[in-house]
Amino acid sequence: KHSRVTARAHTNIALIKYWGKRDTTLFLPMNSSLSLTLDEFYTDTTVSFIDGDQDVFFLNGVEQPLEECVKISKFIELFRTQSSIKSAVLVESHNHVPTAAGLASSASAFAALGTALNELFVLRMDKQTLSTFVRQGSGSATRSIYGGFVEWQMGIETDGSDSYAIKVDDADWNIAMLTIPVNTRKKEISSREGMKLTVETSPFYPAWVEQAGQDIKAIKQAINNQDFIALGELTEANGMKMHGTMLGANPPFSYWEPLTVKVLQRIREIRGQGIPCYYTMDAGPNVKVICQADKADEIKKLLDQSFPDNTTIISGVGKDAYLLSVE
Ligand code: DP6
Repeated sequence: KHSRVTARAHTNIALIKYWGKRDTTLFLPMNSSLSLTLDEFYTDTTVSFIDGDQDVFFLNGVEQPLEECVKISKFIELFRTQSSIKSAVLVESHNHVPTAAGLASSASAFAALGTALNELFVLRMDKQTLSTFVRQGSGSATRSIYGGFVEWQMGIETDGSDSYAIKVDDADWNIAMLTIPVNTRKKEISSREGMKLTVETSPFYPAWVEQAGQDIKAIKQAINNQDFIALGELTEANGMKMHGTMLGANPPFSYWEPLTVKVLQRIREIRGQGIPCYYTMDAGPNVKVICQADKADEIKKLLDQSFPDNTTIISGVGKDAYLLSVE
């Protein structure tokens, strides 16, 4: 029996977005999604058994309030039920996100925790199966089990057994991602609430599901051909379609801020000057840009000139979640 296990998982940014659940308990998505894992942003999580019957959760050295612990405990329970070990667990997590990037993400958090728990409870699940467990902490975490370009296949089974991540490509062909932090405050509408409202009320939602299905096929083709332009165009268009669904919701909502619009416009200008770069946004006002790795410094320089208070962060491609230490 292990006493202490530490795992690391990197965050990921979806190029074809996950937006909407068909099952909110099992975290089953309405559409397949595809992401790029980033090396710059990650979570390290240490788990160990403790006495008593309460799990305890520390984030960046601070003990977390009961409501956060309840979420984590529910997730740990998924692993406990698979194991003969029934002990309570101490979870110590550290997010490694450049200051003020506003990217502290549930994806790397649950992928790191799940990878550590798989070892602590000696379950020996393979990565694909592990991704179905991690999925039940946060949908986007499913994809952080792998590095490179990763697809979360939606699956069709009601028990979620075929809703898992697969690696599509190592993305070792001159790919990078930039993050322009527009506003790093905690968002008012979580992605969980935002997607739920969209599924339930937006008349554009059925069109989203159909489009996402086409986009995922097309982007896998682009990756297969190492066609950066097609990859970028599909990424940008898919993100905008997702944000479009929200304007149709009741009540309508949007994550955009005035500066977001200026950043998007600047990126289109840079592209107009002949430097390929394409944007995407998640459930917040921050902008991410996919570019060729050998152009990243040049694009960062141009963006930093235009937005000196919002320093752009460059990230390369991250790898699979992995164990850092086992005692
Ligand atoms: C817009 O994974 O945060 O970032 O499954 O409810 O935890 P839950 O939601 P979450 O949603 C991510 C939505 C997104 C797009 C994406 O990452 O695919």
